[in-house]
Amino acid sequence: MVRACTSEEGAIETVMTPQPPSATSPDGIADQQRIPSGPAAPAPHGDVETATPEIDADDTAPTRLTDSDGETELGPTGRPLRVIPDPQPVTSHGPAKVIAMCNQKGGVGKTTSTINLGASLAEQGRRVLLVDLDPQGALSAGLGVAHNDLDLTVHNLLVERKVSIDDVLMRTRVENLDLLPSNIDLSAAEIQLVTEVGREQSLGRALYPVLDRYDYILIDCQPSLGLLTVNALACAEGVIIPMECEYFSLRGLALLNDTVEKVRDRLNPRLQMSGIVVTMFDARTLHAREVMTRVVEVFGDLVYDTVISRTVRFPETSVAGEPITTWAPKSGGAQAYRALAREVIARSGR
Ligand SMILES: Nc1ncnc2c1ncn2[C@@H]1O[C@H](COP(=O)(O)OP(=O)(O)O)[C@@H](O)[C@H]1O
Ligand SMILES: [Mg+2]
Repeated sequence: MVRACTSEEGAIETVMTPQPPSATSPDGIADQQRIPSGPAAPAPHGDVETATPEIDADDTAPTRLTDSDGETELGPTGRPLRVIPDPQPVTSHGPAKVIAMCNQKGGVGKTTSTINLGASLAEQGRRVLLVDLDPQGALSAGLGVAHNDLDLTVHNLLVERKVSIDDVLMRTRVENLDLLPSNIDLSAAEIQLVTEVGREQSLGRALYPVLDRYDYILIDCQPSLGLLTVNALACAEGVIIPMECEYFSLRGLALLNDTVEKVRDRLNPRLQMSGIVVTMFDARTLHAREVMTRVVEVFGDLVYDTVISRTVRFPETSVAGEPITTWAPKSGGAQAYRALAREVIARSGR
């Protein structure tokens, strides 16, 4: 069901402020909640060549474009390539910048971007929490979690007051990268929350105790603008929109932008559009290049310079249950998400 942003009734204007980290345990994650290491397959194993090069733009040389003078090198967005500095190391952590990874269209790379941007930020020494806010549980599965067997998930966190975030938190195999997993149970939450007071702030309340432990919290939204997505927008500071470079994607962005504006007006004045990341780009098709030109015309600097090419490596990583940065660390896809992480850090200054 696609539902535009809900009315303001029941909205409680609470702006989250960070609080000191919980004193319960150093990282608040019990050992039994750590994701067991996977089968003894040597990593990185994804850097081995795969057999489908003809549809794989990943390892092709980047398209070299120059401006009309033939001097300045242009990036895939058609703008001059900018040098993004390497991020400064961080010595302390938090308060977290909460970012909703949002697009009501499915299959555009939200989950893939959440996992791989998160892992790339973690590689930069940032502490990152990924929140699976899609009942499909693809984020959890993509990180190797047997999510259908879990007793406690984001669903319990949202609807049961007694469940604390530390009961649900899991550590992933990637250093600095934690997860709040979900499964199909979450699909009941939209209906269960409808009658709650402050229903749009349920996720914000749940995340509040850990804001000071993390530098980034990335929320993988479901493909709808329903109550779960509004919960993500209501507690986020930024929105990153992953979009596939095709004509119909452009039309959906207007509705999403409208929802973001309504949530900013009614629930969360801090909410900003952080950026648009073009995914599954194939520079060899005229259609993709034309849509890219239009996206940059309409959204200007909101569009990240980093563009994620279409490559079979990403579906492969979903099967492997790990980010591309560990599975195929030298691949074009891994480099691209590292570049995106540098842009995200440069834009947010942390
Ligand atoms: N850059 C890419 N190139 C090729 N396939 C991709 C790319 N990014 C994602 N995919 C694949 O596309 C499918 C949808 O991606 P996903 O991240 O799950 O989208 P969403 O979360 O928006 O539904 C998945 O099978 C994923 O592996
Ligand atoms: Mg998804």
